[in-house]
Amino acid sequence: MAILVTGGAGYIGSHTCVEMLNAGYEVVVIDNLDNSSSESLKRVEKITGKTVKFYKEDVRDKDALRKIFKENKIEAVIHFAGLKAVGESVREPIMYYNNNIQNTIALVEVMTEFNVKKIVFSSSATVYGEAKVVPLTEDMPTSAINPYGKTKWFIEHILSDLYNSDNEWSVALLRYFNPIGAHKSGLIGEDPKGIPNNLMPYISQVAVGKLQKLHVFGDDYNTPDGTGVRDYIHVIDLAKGHVKAVDYVLKTTGLEAINLGTGNGVSVFELRDAFVKATGVEVPFVVDPRRPGDADEVYADASKAKKLLGWTAELDVKQMCEDTWRWQSGNPNGYEQ
Ligand code: NAD
Ligand code: WQD
Repeated sequence: MAILVTGGAGYIGSHTCVEMLNAGYEVVVIDNLDNSSSESLKRVEKITGKTVKFYKEDVRDKDALRKIFKENKIEAVIHFAGLKAVGESVREPIMYYNNNIQNTIALVEVMTEFNVKKIVFSSSATVYGEAKVVPLTEDMPTSAINPYGKTKWFIEHILSDLYNSDNEWSVALLRYFNPIGAHKSGLIGEDPKGIPNNLMPYISQVAVGKLQKLHVFGDDYNTPDGTGVRDYIHVIDLAKGHVKAVDYVLKTTGLEAINLGTGNGVSVFELRDAFVKATGVEVPFVVDPRRPGDADEVYADASKAKKLLGWTAELDVKQMCEDTWRWQSGNPNGYEQ
């Protein structure tokens, strides 16, 4: 019996493969390598001493999915595959709807054909839209303000409608906050193409000398130091949350939205300072205007994950910074040697 991991060669997917293998699960990956490299999976095998069965295919290709379901005894699916850059989604909305929505529909159609009705979906805190109250709880109203966020919001609705039509399904909608960090081996980590959109990869690329200075997007937010506050979560904690979510969907039916965050808010300045302290490397910065669409504060109420899954984040910001740096300094060009 195996777990199918879509998008398993990517950042969160590769770390989740490690934790799934460590927990004793067999793992099958489908990834079109659109935003990743198969080298990540070789390194997953190196870290765990176990094998990953890999299909380089697109999740929108139903025949490719059927082949995977025929060749493997799949018990449940973790669905990471998708495009994730907010700015790009504003410029290329159809590409985002085409990929994220179509691949989910193809996947659940083929899962239904093979009577596999257990799915853990990568949702995002982005579905809380412009919520003004923190911490965010799962029962707050959801919405979305950009095409990327809308794909996550729509997919949550698609999976809810599916569950309502057939109560044999078990669906976990995992709403991630801000994943950062890397495996402690330094062998796998985040490998963004081009200039990073997100704060931590930007900081680490400044530290390694690939970028000149950090651009802090606004210091006039309604926060203690004026910079944006987010809930950074170590990717290994996030990966372990997926193991717990798979355990959970395997033994239940139902649909649950679950926040995966630490519950702690950390500002841009605090994260930069923690990185400098943890690594001893300077990260020069300049304060720029706000980035449109950014909120003052976003952090989770993480109590539902604890209650339902028995999961809480354990690693702190210092470990997030140290592990990011071990990966970035050991692999300045990511998986490209
Ligand atoms: P990633 O880009 O590193 O991983 C996604 C993987 O999916 C990549 O390996 C890519 O090649 C693959 N992929 C994309 N479209 C595909 C398709 N049609 N068929 C097969 N493979 C395909 O991104 P990540 O950071 O690991 O994110 C994983 C998931 O988590 C995504 O769905 C993302 O939207 C979601 N998420 C990420 C964050 C974050 O900050 N990283 C936050 C919240 C939610
Ligand atoms: C964090 C803070 C910025 C970059 C995004 C997506 C969200 C989710 C996670 C997928 C903010 C500031 C950033 C920089 C900066 N992804 N910043 N300089 O925006 O919270 O969330 O990733 O679902 O949907 O929107 O993360 O890392 O981009 O920004 O000052 O170069 O850092 O303003 O306050 P964000 P982020």
